[in-house]
Amino acid sequence: MDRSSFAAEFEELLNVGIALSSIHDLEKLLGMILLEARRLTRADAGTLYLVKKDRLIFRVSQCQSLSDRLGEERMRQMYQSFEMPVSQESIAGYSALTRKVLNIPDVKEIPPEASYHYNPTWDQKAGYASHSMMVVPMLNRDGQTVGVLQLINALSDGRVIPFRKEHEKLASSLASQAAVAIENAELTEDLKQAHLDTIFRLGVAAEYRDKETANHIKRMSHYCALIAEGLGWGKEEVEVIFWSSLMHDVGKLGIPDRILQKPGPLTPEERKVMELHTTIGGSILKGSKAPVLEKSRVVALTHHEKFDGSGYPRGLKGEKIPVEGRITLLADVFDALSSKRVYKEAMPESEVLPILQGGRGTHFDPKILDVFLDRLGEARKIQERYSDREEDFDKLRNLGSPEENSEESDRG
Ligand SMILES: [Fe+2]
Ligand SMILES: [Fe+2]
Repeated sequence: MDRSSFAAEFEELLNVGIALSSIHDLEKLLGMILLEARRLTRADAGTLYLVKKDRLIFRVSQCQSLSDRLGEERMRQMYQSFEMPVSQESIAGYSALTRKVLNIPDVKEIPPEASYHYNPTWDQKAGYASHSMMVVPMLNRDGQTVGVLQLINALSDGRVIPFRKEHEKLASSLASQAAVAIENAELTEDLKQAHLDTIFRLGVAAEYRDKETANHIKRMSHYCALIAEGLGWGKEEVEVIFWSSLMHDVGKLGIPDRILQKPGPLTPEERKVMELHTTIGGSILKGSKAPVLEKSRVVALTHHEKFDGSGYPRGLKGEKIPVEGRITLLADVFDALSSKRVYKEAMPESEVLPILQGGRGTHFDPKILDVFLDRLGEARKIQERYSDREEDFDKLRNLGSPEENSEESDRG
């Protein structure tokens, strides 16, 4: 390779590095890293592993010639995720442990004295023939292996050739930039997870005071996501309502125990206080720039507004009620009726459905009700997956047991 084309490749590498550092979605980032590494080294195929403790975790695989032959979908089905120990016996493990680049002209001719071997299982399964291979450790700034890039079959005019020596350095530089980008993306993901986890726990804290199980809000958020999908919302919007519905009752944190935990029906005055959980929730969540918290505020404030305007706190009517409120209302009522509570048994579906139908246009937005009823099969699966166990109720009973069975199944 002459100097000028080498310089051009380095410049390209720099651009790739900048592009990688701007991707915060780990899944997308890993795909992009492998694609760029393959492009840079003219590799037909490749696999990316991440190192977690002493395991190599398979994350992405790409193969141009197989994709062309079999199609993307079939390719995806063929790659099943797997992990293996980081050991010197596998090619990727060797590179991870020694932090060395391996440039193997032909995997079928690895000298017998090498500690690593080529595993032909995948080739045989896919009907592929691996020959040249370059394996590059992805090292972070502390020199620790974050992952391994395994590039397969360098191509030149459609023929498989060994990987070029100059590409070792190029691929190593890319791999190091990739390692930093991966660590950043993982950090972002951890932060996001911590943020969402906190939301979930706050939601649980609020429900716990009202003797609802953590499963109530899990089921509810899944029902909300199901309805949002049915309304044709995009993936991100569905995710936002999923998380924001968890905090619909966060305002119960501000309702006194004597009302929240009162056995039996509430007096009209007590009911008024109970209804304040919507506005209290709204103020707890007010003023955040985070989209999930902003939507949580809307949900907390409007999840008891009924379609005919007879709900609370503002008596909003029809489409004046934000759609998030209309969705969570239905999900909340469905769950309150169809699941067991400390003070009541679960109602069978044959009784729940007529109640929902009876509330069409008065309690519920007809469009949202239809979308939900169309997806009842999915809703049943959610019910099944997050069903409450007896010990969930035992925990709650120990908080003090309401003797009476309240006919008010959806008190708040
Ligand atoms: Fe609820
Ligand atoms: Fe509520």
